[in-house]
Amino acid sequence: METRRVGPFEVSAIGLGCMSLSHSYGPPPSREQAERVLLGAINAGHTFFDTAAVYGLGHNERLVGEVLKPHRDQIVLASKCGMTRGEERELNGSPERLKQTCDESLARLGVDVIDLYYLHRWDKRVPIEESVGALADLVKAGKIRSIGLSEVGAVTLRKAHAVHPIAALQTEYSPWTRNPEIAVLDACRELGVAFIAFSPVARGFLAGGASDPEKFGPGDFRKGMPRFLGDAFASNLKLLEAFTALAQEAGCTRAQLCLAWLLHKDLIIVPIPGTSRPKHMSENAGAAAVNLSSEIIAKVDELVNERTVAGGRYPPAMQATVDTEDWVA
Ligand SMILES: NC(=O)c1ccc[n+]([C@@H]2O[C@H](COP(=O)([O-])OP(=O)(O)OC[C@H]3O[C@@H](n4cnc5c(N)ncnc54)[C@H](OP(=O)(O)O)[C@@H]3O)[C@@H](O)[C@H]2O)c1
Repeated sequence: METRRVGPFEVSAIGLGCMSLSHSYGPPPSREQAERVLLGAINAGHTFFDTAAVYGLGHNERLVGEVLKPHRDQIVLASKCGMTRGEERELNGSPERLKQTCDESLARLGVDVIDLYYLHRWDKRVPIEESVGALADLVKAGKIRSIGLSEVGAVTLRKAHAVHPIAALQTEYSPWTRNPEIAVLDACRELGVAFIAFSPVARGFLAGGASDPEKFGPGDFRKGMPRFLGDAFASNLKLLEAFTALAQEAGCTRAQLCLAWLLHKDLIIVPIPGTSRPKHMSENAGAAAVNLSSEIIAKVDELVNERTVAGGRYPPAMQATVDTEDWVA
């Protein structure tokens, strides 16, 4: 697979998001299936894996660490700290807590060093400089190799970057979530920070994998997300029809259209789709080889954007943890 730069690393242009192997979109897959996704991803050329201390309350770091152990030297392993209690989404950006979580992440992953460690959310009770200062101490101590931030706006990124170079900023980006286009992408370009696009296939929606909310299983947090509810969802479904036709015109699948659209937007962008199915993993990896014409890109931009998508990204409690500039109030 083509590679892209993330801080000091060359990584596959598409990474693998591992969150849904432990929780989020209904019951997680079996251990056997999760292993097939992770090991299949290695065979498909993925070298960039994304987990977090909070995913499955430690389950995800353990899973990823165990299954990918034989491949440790070939991959770039990213995890996150600062959000530690799952559903309650407790944020704690104090230096002590971040350092403690890092030790716990290292133990669960079974590694001596984490390549990229993100602050999962900025805890606004703690100045960003202090939280990033703690991560800089972890770099000095040899426990992490580089620092990332998640769900922060451009102003916060600049403050953090002044304390220690930030390798990557991770936030939601897909045709149906354009917030990074307000200011964050420009700031990343200017500062030389890689942009990691999470939920790049719109939490399954634009891939055609979430067209019936009635089928969402227990624990699926899309059940509370405004875009998947009521009239907003019905309106978004109309976009999906036209998006399906566009993917046919582009000669790829819907998920591939989302991912290739991101890859064509800028070389600083690395999408990290998540899946619990080996088949979807292969399909998504195949997007790295999809060429899109500027005409198709313009048609995607015109069809799915902040004016045409109905509903906010998150329910209010989750939205409150985010620092990004927002189109949708
Ligand atoms: N920093 C943060 O706060 C944050 C927040 C969210 C996510 N993330 C990271 O980003 C990664 C990806 O985000 P995400 O999982 O939320 O969203 P996503 O990748 O946009 O969507 C995942 C959903 O799409 C479905 N899907 C994936 N590929 C598909 C395909 N080819 N065809 C049909 N359906 C497909 C999956 O279902 P199947 O399992 O059936 O394939 C799953 O339900 C996560 O794993 C995590 O590492 C970070």
